Amino acid sequence: MIEKLIGPHHTYLRDALPFLQRVAAKVARDHGDRDPSLVELATQLDIIAAALTAHMDEEESVLFPALLEGREREAVALLFDMRRDHEELQLLLHELRLIARDYRPPGWACNSYRTLMYELRALEADVFEHLRIETRILLPRFVP
Ligand SMILES: [Fe+2]
Ligand SMILES: [Fe+2]
Repeated sequence: MIEKLIGPHHTYLRDALPFLQRVAAKVARDHGDRDPSLVELATQLDIIAAALTAHMDEEESVLFPALLEGREREAVALLFDMRRDHEELQLLLHELRLIARDYRPPGWACNSYRTLMYELRALEADVFEHLRIETRILLPRFVP
């Protein structure tokens, strides 16, 4: 059940994050002079990528095995940590959206810039759904 619900979201992020970090770095390099918020955007995305990757590593190596093996007390503590991480990740993503001005590219934006905004919007939607499944579906199954 965990693998089916969460697996696709983790796989997507492990693929999308490094790609988007590269595009964000390129857009910051090419257009940071004209709009310094693009440099801030690339930095914030690096912070989010590190936080999400550490969070997924922890879920895959510690939390999910504890749930699957029925180590209940340990799992409950880990689930509360997970929920706290999720709140932090949501804040970081909210900041990203503010820096990116709601992911609306200006008229002069190049293709890389447009792709970045489009894909970041998709990433945000996917992460919110991913966190929602973990918090609203996974957690209640194990914590009555
Ligand atoms: Fe996850
Ligand atoms: Fe999570």
